[in-house]
Amino acid sequence: MSFLKISKLLQFPKGTSCRLMRFLVHILHCPAISPFHTATRLSMVQTGEMQTRLDECRAKVAFQGEKVRTLKKSGVPQSEVTSEVEALLLLKHELADVERQVEELKPLYCRCRTQLENLAKRRSFFFPAFEIYGGTAGLFDWGPPGCAIKAEVESLWRRHFVLYEDMLEVSGTCLTPHNVLKTSGHVDRFCDLMTSDTKTGDCYRADKLLEDFIDAKLADSKGISKETQKLELIRRQADSFSTSEMYELFQKLGVQSPLGNALSEPFPFNLMFKTRIGPKEDLTSETTTAYLRPETAQGIFVNFRRLLEYNAGRMPFAAAQLGLGFRNEIAPRNGLLRVREFQMAEIEHFVDPKDKSHSKFSDVAELKLPLFPKKNQLSDGKIIRNITIREAVESQMINNETLGYFMARTFLFLTNCGIQECGLRFRQHLDTEMAHYASDCWDAEIETSYGWVECVGHADRAAYDLTHHTKATKTPLVASKRYEEPRLLKSVEMVANRALLGPAFKKDQTLVLESLEEKSDEEKLLIENDLTTSGSYVLQVCNGDKFTITRPMVKFETVEKKVSEETFVPGVIEPSFGIGRIIYCILEHTFRSRGIEDQEERCFLSLPIVIAPIKCSVLSISTDARFNPIMQTIKGDMVKLGVSSKLDSSGASIGKRYARTDEIGIPFGITVDFQSLKDGTVTLRERDSMQQLRVAVRVVGWVIIQ
Ligand code: ATP
Ligand code: GLY
Repeated sequence: MSFLKISKLLQFPKGTSCRLMRFLVHILHCPAISPFHTATRLSMVQTGEMQTRLDECRAKVAFQGEKVRTLKKSGVPQSEVTSEVEALLLLKHELADVERQVEELKPLYCRCRTQLENLAKRRSFFFPAFEIYGGTAGLFDWGPPGCAIKAEVESLWRRHFVLYEDMLEVSGTCLTPHNVLKTSGHVDRFCDLMTSDTKTGDCYRADKLLEDFIDAKLADSKGISKETQKLELIRRQADSFSTSEMYELFQKLGVQSPLGNALSEPFPFNLMFKTRIGPKEDLTSETTTAYLRPETAQGIFVNFRRLLEYNAGRMPFAAAQLGLGFRNEIAPRNGLLRVREFQMAEIEHFVDPKDKSHSKFSDVAELKLPLFPKKNQLSDGKIIRNITIREAVESQMINNETLGYFMARTFLFLTNCGIQECGLRFRQHLDTEMAHYASDCWDAEIETSYGWVECVGHADRAAYDLTHHTKATKTPLVASKRYEEPRLLKSVEMVANRALLGPAFKKDQTLVLESLEEKSDEEKLLIENDLTTSGSYVLQVCNGDKFTITRPMVKFETVEKKVSEETFVPGVIEPSFGIGRIIYCILEHTFRSRGIEDQEERCFLSLPIVIAPIKCSVLSISTDARFNPIMQTIKGDMVKLGVSSKLDSSGASIGKRYARTDEIGIPFGITVDFQSLKDGTVTLRERDSMQQLRVAVRVVGWVIIQ
């Protein structure tokens, strides 16, 4: 964007100096603020090119190595072998050089973990919960800057999704009764595969052990071979193996516990925390048993009727919820990335299952997202970057417009938060990996120093949840669509002779009638045919019991009715965000170093203004008391403008104080100095560029909110 265009956009008031305008325009062009900064794109291109060169070099080394081995076995003269060995050495040399260059080109977030974790600890972003009692694995507390960033990320999320889409926000309880989660499938199926060390009894998550084992193998191997490609493929599917497949792999590959002992056969472990509601001790009673919710979504599904009514029956619509989720993770690890209690932000977008278009799809249709479809995960492992969301939906790579729309909106949200485009991809779930309720699923994954991490799941849950809750509660969770003109519709209806059914089936009468009602029109006509031809029909109900229905008991008739609306169970598209994971990724992606990486004072967080914990610091050049009234005036103006600020008139050097504010990502620093006493101006410093400008005290607040 040109300087002129940006200046117009910013609507500078008359009389704003040219220098000030240039300063602001410069800030808006800063890499920290614009995630699409050219440097990022350049490094993506370079990394891509170097990766291709690396793959080529590895292939050449593997080919030449094979050639040398074959020659050695064939008994050709030594001189011939020697020249090929020399060629191999040269290729290996070149490979080492390219590997070094690829390492250097890796984004800083792949290399900054220790420094970032030191910074987060030093500045109290987050810390282990109950630390003075030794801490509890998988539980973390947020400190002041962490809390402030979390509040800003949540506020941006609300604006970006809830306000932008007119979503209905709800806030449900964390305690959830047994029957709700039994119906949703979580009691029986919300499990991870667990395995234990057969000697020590220590427990591990089976897929993570398999991944770690393969990572170690791949790190030890030089070059690509059929073997390493096979291992990479297994790694990509680690989450999706059944109990027996996993055990077979353990044995085939020789996977052991971290202590080198044999592992037990894996078994499913339910991740929900169980508790009870009320004073009764009995944890086996289904009426008192409850769980801490593993997702916030169920709180929306059970309130569907009320939400639809609030929305005046209009479809499609979305509900959203921010709140805690709890999972008794087998092996919490990697700091905030795998914890046992975490803030979720979930959206349930309800649609007509026959029409999953989205009215705002055209707004995002031309965006190109980095896509990693299941086909590529099972073949070359390449990410597709050159097709638009429109093309991905049209070619059915992405199942429908609404799913594609939300993936694009998530992409914009994450990049606005400071996630670098080069470290973001959308990975489709493999068929065997999908959650029990989902029919298509794409995870937004962010690259970190721990590897690729799922941060947002996008699932097409179809009508799974509403259908099951309807069945369990006999409360129809349905929506309806009015036809423009009434339509003549045929249906098959049952006429039951209760005088015969009652004495014949007694207490089972209702079950029999419900089972017959549930049959489709086609099935009802087949039963009618059986009753007419043979005089009876054997009905099997859901618990397996059988009942003989005779001709006089029921009759099925085809009727024609004029209907003006159609009732249907809505489908659900669900984007599900983990706020803690996203914040950790933001911290890694915005971590910067001014040259000397191991010098802590030079590290800072280039957080976008919108999520920075505090927007500006107000400092004095020295402890001279004459600066205090000016600082208080500026603070007062900031409060009026709604800009968060932090006063610091301590005696530390100004450089040290700038470094402290840079570390927690404060984008602007205002410094009151001796010139301020004379002419009412202060310096305004921008964090990333460290550029400074003199500005009048009375306009400094305005400059910041621009
Ligand atoms: P994973 O495979 O990593 O365990 P998941 O597939 O179980 O994750 P979802 O069930 O899709 O994750 O949960 C939705 C979001 O909640 C995730 O994208 C992630 O951001 C967050 N999340 C899930 N589990 C955890 C956890 N243990 N700690 C922190 N965040 C989590
Ligand atoms: N609500 C999505 C999940 O928790 O997996």
